Amino acid sequence: MTLTPSRDDKFSFGLWTLGWAAQDQFGGPTRPHLDTVEAVEKLAEYGAYGLTFHDDDLFPFGSADNVRQGEIDRLKQALSDTGLIIPMVTTNLFSHPVFKDGGFTSNDRGVRRFALRKVLRNIDLAAELGAKTFVMWGGREGSEYDAAKDIRGALERYREAVNLLGDYVTDKGYDLKFAIEPKPNEPRGDILLPTVGHALAFIATLERPELVGLNPETGHEQMAGLNFTHGIAQALYSDKLFHIDLNGQRGVKFDQDLVFGHGDVQNAFSLVDLLENGGPNGGPSYTGPRHFDYKPSRTEDINGVWDSVQANMRMYLLLKERAAAFRADPEVQEALLAARVDEVNAPTLNEGESYDALLADRASYEDFDADAYFGGKGFGFVRLQQLAMEHLLGAR
Ligand code: GCO
Ligand code: MN
Ligand code: MN
Repeated sequence: MTLTPSRDDKFSFGLWTLGWAAQDQFGGPTRPHLDTVEAVEKLAEYGAYGLTFHDDDLFPFGSADNVRQGEIDRLKQALSDTGLIIPMVTTNLFSHPVFKDGGFTSNDRGVRRFALRKVLRNIDLAAELGAKTFVMWGGREGSEYDAAKDIRGALERYREAVNLLGDYVTDKGYDLKFAIEPKPNEPRGDILLPTVGHALAFIATLERPELVGLNPETGHEQMAGLNFTHGIAQALYSDKLFHIDLNGQRGVKFDQDLVFGHGDVQNAFSLVDLLENGGPNGGPSYTGPRHFDYKPSRTEDINGVWDSVQANMRMYLLLKERAAAFRADPEVQEALLAARVDEVNAPTLNEGESYDALLADRASYEDFDADAYFGGKGFGFVRLQQLAMEHLLGAR
């Protein structure tokens, strides 16, 4: 297996990631502005296949039409020069002060109408550039104070917005699906649709649920103390993994946006194993872009930016290689059998068995000796996990 990224790996990066000038809450930028064309050229050179962006990453908020078009044209030229594509586009409904209480769910109706117009315009651009996924991260949709937000009303406005966007892409005939990106907090004290589970429940209420899926982010689930691999597995189970934001996070704290695998590496290993080997017959369970939404640390200069771009892809490929070795190891296969990992896929009831038949089955209850059942035997999960760690560390 090669560790050199190629287009087939479907690696993509947000323009706002490598392009981050490293300003934060406590200090100004440590790096100069990165031009879009340079970003496209370098990404292509390093083996990525896609670039993604917010409208405001490409052209500043409020740009005159000719400035906006000029930037779009420069991007198109760079794409045609390099072969890079735009798999996903997203809208900035969080930076401008007008969005201080949100976009789709601001208490102010005028802001909500403006937000919808900004998104509709950006959907046209996404379709024009051939993007297949339109991400919606509602960073400002939320509150700091419980008394200040009617959550049920806000969710209803969110639903109204997404329903309208669904009508729009359908009527326009765009080949574009939506992916909601959950996040528990930051920048708001509490953000609406904070986790994969909340977002799945919301999607089920929509008028066109088939058009809407998820864009889960590693760090966002981990900020909530959740297991990202579990979240991704449930998204796959619900056929809603439309896109993914990969990065690194170390525990429950602010959104660190580290390089993928530089946070919880064991969870990154199980994630890559799931994405690459968790599908039918041991193939991939997800075939969309492997999108990195990270930030090159503020300590880095432009060389550090390119190091971090390459590090994301290399970490993914290393973990993919380690996961393949794990799956191929006969001792692992034996340990998986011993731990009866596959037995959970056997239905609990016999075919056609009713509750009457279950109630009549004495072996399942009256004669079931719970105290003696395991005869002191364990499942062997620790041994299996140790084998996984040894493969992860390259010890096997
Ligand atoms: C964040 C989010 C964003 C979104 C982006 C795409 O925590 O800032 O992850 O980076 O992914 O806005 O919609
Ligand atoms: Mn994030
Ligand atoms: Mn993200």
